[in-house]
Amino acid sequence: MAQPPIFWPVAAYVVTSIVASFPVAAQLPDKAGHPDRQAAAIEAQMTDTERLNMVRSIFSRTDRTATPLPADVVSSASYTPPIPRLNVPALRETDGPLGVSWVSGSRKDGATAFPSTLAMGAAWDPDMAYRVGAQMAKEARAKGFNVLLTGGVNLVREPRGGRNFEYLSEDPLLSGVVGGLGIRAVQDAHMISTIKHFAMNAQETGRHIANALIRDDQAHDSDLLAFRLAIDIGHPGAVMCAYNRVNGAQSCGSKALLTDILKTQWRYPGFVMSDWSAVRGISDMTAGLDRESADENDARPYFAQDLLPAAVRDRALHHRMRDATRRILRTMFASGLMTNPPKIAAVDPAEGKAIARAAAQGGIVLLKNEGMLPLLRSARRIAVIGGFANEGVLSGGGSSQVQPVQGPAINFPGNGARHRIMYHPSSPLAAIKAKLPKDAFVRYDQGFYPAAAANMARESDVAIVFATQWMTEGLDAPDLSLPQGQDEMIAAVARANPNTIVVLETGGPVLMPWKDHVGAILEAWYAGIGGGEAIADVLFGDVDPTGRLPVTFPASLDQLPRPVLDDSKDRARDLASQSQTIAGFDVDYRIEGSDVGYRWFARKGVKPLFPFGHGLSYTHFRYSDFSVTDGPQIMVSFTIENDGDRAGGDVPQVYVRERAGKPGLRLAGWSKVVLDKGQRKTIRFPIEPKILADWDGKVGAWMVPAGRFDFQLGASSADAALAATTSVASRRIK
Ligand code: BGC
Repeated sequence: MAQPPIFWPVAAYVVTSIVASFPVAAQLPDKAGHPDRQAAAIEAQMTDTERLNMVRSIFSRTDRTATPLPADVVSSASYTPPIPRLNVPALRETDGPLGVSWVSGSRKDGATAFPSTLAMGAAWDPDMAYRVGAQMAKEARAKGFNVLLTGGVNLVREPRGGRNFEYLSEDPLLSGVVGGLGIRAVQDAHMISTIKHFAMNAQETGRHIANALIRDDQAHDSDLLAFRLAIDIGHPGAVMCAYNRVNGAQSCGSKALLTDILKTQWRYPGFVMSDWSAVRGISDMTAGLDRESADENDARPYFAQDLLPAAVRDRALHHRMRDATRRILRTMFASGLMTNPPKIAAVDPAEGKAIARAAAQGGIVLLKNEGMLPLLRSARRIAVIGGFANEGVLSGGGSSQVQPVQGPAINFPGNGARHRIMYHPSSPLAAIKAKLPKDAFVRYDQGFYPAAAANMARESDVAIVFATQWMTEGLDAPDLSLPQGQDEMIAAVARANPNTIVVLETGGPVLMPWKDHVGAILEAWYAGIGGGEAIADVLFGDVDPTGRLPVTFPASLDQLPRPVLDDSKDRARDLASQSQTIAGFDVDYRIEGSDVGYRWFARKGVKPLFPFGHGLSYTHFRYSDFSVTDGPQIMVSFTIENDGDRAGGDVPQVYVRERAGKPGLRLAGWSKVVLDKGQRKTIRFPIEPKILADWDGKVGAWMVPAGRFDFQLGASSADAALAATTSVASRRIK
């Protein structure tokens, strides 16, 4: 992984500058070489103009770009032209991470719309993340792309965050492992996966100007750890730096983040691309940025206009530009782009939908069940209410949005052109009807009027209410209530009929003032193109609910480290933030530091509405023989038994709760287990040592302290069913 030292003789500098516009005949390296050597060989033959071609990309949204594009470029996020004389292919980039994005409506061809990334986090299933990543990559390649902008591993620090549905969880291990496997699937398919948004990109309010304040050690033990784990597991070819500032510096111009941490401490060999319109000048390249993305979106196309003249004058900058070029080429070789070009093919919607449905099933979380579920097929009169359940399931808005091959069920403007309120055509109502006998009496009410919804519920045996919270890139929720009066509507339905089941389709946590008055609650997130069927599968018990919360659901905003969203009092400033010229504001993450989510709740001794890791099954599990032992690896062992009366799945979770006298709850590992009735299984896995460590800035490493470590095993972060203690030797992890 280490980068070879880069030597830069003065003579070579002068020669390359002079030949800038006179390409010489290429000598191509052998195909089996090491990516570093292959990249160096190609780069050495490039003119500066060709290098510039590599370190910038063209905005390729065909309905918006001002730059003429070749006929074979389909509307997408960005495009880098090829250099045929050196056999360097074009970079063709599409957004993920929920499938091949529809570019805010400028492409109509459609792709599989997968469940939200948060739903993938809720599945706690790295294998499923790999399956979804592989299918997404397959479809992206079939559309001619070789770069997938997928891999959102920012921690959910802000439950009101507009892009939480694009992120995996509030925990670094869960996000790092599940995110890493999703990335690896893309890389294995000979595509570049771009992990993003580096770093501390937790809220959308003032996203270009918000300044995340966090100490170095706090960041390393939380958000940076998620990135580091996902990078080590997935080997993404690129990292996308974020919009926001971190400790005063713009992420894409932060030497601390890009050069000191990512490239030097972590020895990351790939390249850093900017987020779209996140560059502030060619000094960003000096700080460690390798590629200005879709440069016409920036205040000016800095690299295109300013880089070459400056590099001629500034030897260090020229050196940096060559290093950036090498890094991009290195990633292209290492990811197999040179030898495995994508082939245009048709996307099979049925194949994609089957995987999306399985992924949705695995991520649905049964939050509460007073014996109402699974729903009996003998139920006669069922009221289905709200959430456009007669049409489909909701999706989140922004650059990640995917239009399914089948087309949208509902598609209307949310908040601006990129922000569409789209429902995928996977109707829960139709899926519920399909599970019931023909003579069942199933009716639907829009849920617009609480009184009408309550009337229908009163006349039914069971009411199933679908409640939605539309979230989008660029916009946070002001609070955690369900919008458009849905809380009142649910309360009215529950008063009319206590046999009420609530199915939530939300971008993240919400409050539930009606919680104690309903019989069951299911969190289905944005469930994707197989979502309606997956919800019905779980409601009727054809699939056991094995999803577990990847985020804490707070009981009130007061429980959060920041009860008021930073700067939400000043929306005008937020709207003006795109101009990038106004003063920023601080978001102080030093308050919770690395204690994000459940760690914060444990530190404060506060009881949330539903804890991180929570989720019910239709059967029951018993854990025994829990032990943790130190050795070459720190190993966990326990036995799980399905002692309920049906087959089902569970996610037993191991947390460390005290390390050498230092209290603090941290997820240390988990296993997703599916067992038949009566079946037992012994689970063993090693604990990732960075989870047991603290970042030590002086040593430049994660240090595991020596001493007594206390662990708990349970069904959530709040469940200490079994405890184990072991003595751990100190470790230093780079
Ligand atoms: C988003 C990125 C996305 C890019 C390209 C930006 O607005 O923050 O996540 O990859 O657009 O569409």
